[in-house]
Amino acid sequence: MANEMLNLDPDRLKRYLESVLHETVRVLGVDRLGEPGAESLKTYGYGIPLRIRFELSGRPHTAVLETVRPGPFGHEHMSDRAQMQLWAHAAYNRLPRHVRSIDVGAFERSGRMVSLGDVDELFVLTEFVEGRAYAEDLQRLMSVPGMSAEDGARSQVLCDYLADIHSVAAPDRNLYFRRLRELLGHGEGIMGIADQYPSDQASELEDIEHRCLAWRWKLKPKAQRLRQVHGDFHPWNILFRQGTDFTVLDRSRGEWGEPADDVTSLTLNYLFFSIQRAGRLEGDFEALFRSFWDRYIEKTGDAEILNVAPPFFAFRGLVVACPKWYPNLPEKSRRAMLAFVRNVLDAAAFEPHRVNSYCEI
Ligand SMILES: Nc1ncnc2c1ncn2[C@@H]1O[C@H](COP(=O)(O)OP(=O)(O)OP(=O)(O)O)[C@@H](O)[C@H]1O
Ligand SMILES: [Mg+2]
Repeated sequence: MANEMLNLDPDRLKRYLESVLHETVRVLGVDRLGEPGAESLKTYGYGIPLRIRFELSGRPHTAVLETVRPGPFGHEHMSDRAQMQLWAHAAYNRLPRHVRSIDVGAFERSGRMVSLGDVDELFVLTEFVEGRAYAEDLQRLMSVPGMSAEDGARSQVLCDYLADIHSVAAPDRNLYFRRLRELLGHGEGIMGIADQYPSDQASELEDIEHRCLAWRWKLKPKAQRLRQVHGDFHPWNILFRQGTDFTVLDRSRGEWGEPADDVTSLTLNYLFFSIQRAGRLEGDFEALFRSFWDRYIEKTGDAEILNVAPPFFAFRGLVVACPKWYPNLPEKSRRAMLAFVRNVLDAAAFEPHRVNSYCEI
């Protein structure tokens, strides 16, 4: 859509302006603003400002319609650019001497221009899915040890599902850089979670963040690993019906990312529930944990995932050890999860057989 933006359809523009300004509009002309010259010092900008000259009930008026250029700097997705525009319309008129925002709007796929100026909150409408959260299976195993054949089969079908979705590659290293950047700095990422911890843990969390930063630079050269991902593959986002029939919910933070994010998101929960049950990874949960990793690497041939997993494990560990998310977690389990986070970050590569030593147990 971006490139056609420059040649706005005058008729659609007229109808849009009339829908917002509630008077008769005659469009006189549209021209580009702020185009850098060859000698310009600053040659890059995020916006594409268009000056629109029009008559409103016969009186001359000029306005600027600005879109955002798709690209790096976190502007890859339409939703990124939508966030910027919705924010701009809400914030511009609150600052003295700032240009006034008249409206925020959108181009429909048809090209029709619609106003979003009255939008207060967005929502997604999905179908309702029958099923019970996989977390309930893990809670059952936590209180009543002894996994069934179905428990094993469910873990395998989830592993195969990840191996399958992760087989779809996407050649955009900027999106891989973005994923690593947001793993650390996104509000839902390591720094965002760390900011929700009690202040008396500041030095421990700062230390963890520094190690994660080093991992970001270590992983950037692996951008060829960008794959289709779920992005929030935890047991509360997986609903099972009969047997191994399931539906996933709530993919998050981007369609493309690092496969280790999904594998660590689920397998960390085998450790988390085992720690709560037995203070260590053992029994059913150890069997599920080890067979998941073995099967995933065998199915995908992706042994390199072990060299990438630590910061993603650290993120998931910080979430489950965070009092905001799990206020009732016994302190002993919280300490074990935080030890796992610290020590797995020190490992050059994740070693599934060393999980209990990462938890300093
Ligand atoms: N489409 C749906 N069909 C059936 N149940 C649903 C659906 N969407 C959400 N739920 C139920 O509501 C719960 C919370 O919904 P959702 O996962 O969207 O919220 P959330 O707070 O974003 O969770 P998360 O912690 O994963 O970010 C789910 O775990 C599931 O039990
Ligand atoms: Mg959810």
